[in-house]
Amino acid sequence: MSTPPDWHLPRWRGRALVVGCGGIGRALLAALARRAPQLELVGASRQPLPLSGPELGAVPVLPLDLERDASLAALAVQLAGGAPLRLVIHTAGVLQDGELKPEKRLAQVRRCHLERSFAVNAFAPLLLAQAIEPLLPRDQPFHFASLSARVGSIGDNRLGGWYAYRAAKAAQNQLLHTLALEWGRRLPLGCVSLLHPGTTATALSAPFRANVPERQLFSTERAAGHLLDVLGQRRAEDSGGFWAWDGQPIPW
Ligand SMILES: NC(=O)c1ccc[n+]([C@@H]2O[C@H](COP(=O)([O-])OP(=O)(O)OC[C@H]3O[C@@H](n4cnc5c(N)ncnc54)[C@H](OP(=O)(O)O)[C@@H]3O)[C@@H](O)[C@H]2O)c1
Repeated sequence: MSTPPDWHLPRWRGRALVVGCGGIGRALLAALARRAPQLELVGASRQPLPLSGPELGAVPVLPLDLERDASLAALAVQLAGGAPLRLVIHTAGVLQDGELKPEKRLAQVRRCHLERSFAVNAFAPLLLAQAIEPLLPRDQPFHFASLSARVGSIGDNRLGGWYAYRAAKAAQNQLLHTLALEWGRRLPLGCVSLLHPGTTATALSAPFRANVPERQLFSTERAAGHLLDVLGQRRAEDSGGFWAWDGQPIPW
């Protein structure tokens, strides 16, 4: 009789890659150092400076610009040859950057802003999956998770606005749900998850949280803890789901 797959993160050995070292990305690395101490941690960011801290030790951060194919290919080359990637968490995202701002009405929609938002929020996680696929284990469970956002839910959209961000997150959900179905056939020990972290105090949310009650605004540490709790409960049979920070499914 074969042994059942071990989904208990604290026992996992191999590597964990966190893509995007913004507020939630950095907090996830610190939380993983505590909660999955046998995993070797690696970050990837446009600012490839090693991260250090009392819990973290020193975590290498590889250079990655998700908007460039050559950069994704170079990341795969740098990761090749090491231990299998048991955990990949994509945390990069863009809501506002220079002229790109969440639209309040149709007149503010711009083609270049839609393209930028889709490049980072929708295309990047799928192209990341393509680049790192050869490094995933074939004989052990793994997680591939990506941060989405509740505002990407079409069923839950009652407010409107934020055309580019909402639509790019919805597109990400479709792309990774489709990936989950393909990997379910080819890499059946994998679990693909789309995760909503809740409103979290980071640079991304800073301009938009004036009306968020304090109890509903998470610190990055708290958000990271929730996200790892949710991942810890997911198995291959859950692959392709869209989950909120409290483990509840979110409608597409
Ligand atoms: N904070 C919230 O309230 C909230 C709510 C719902 C969903 N989310 C989602 O959670 C995720 C993490 O957000 P956060 O709050 O931690 O925001 P953040 O602090 O602004 O971090 C976002 C990260 O995305 C990276 N990034 C953007 N464009 C990139 C590119 N072309 N190549 C590589 N990295 C790129 C940034 O990298 P650099 O360091 O290189 O600039 C940064 O590390 C995002 O997907 C966001 O949409 C956040």
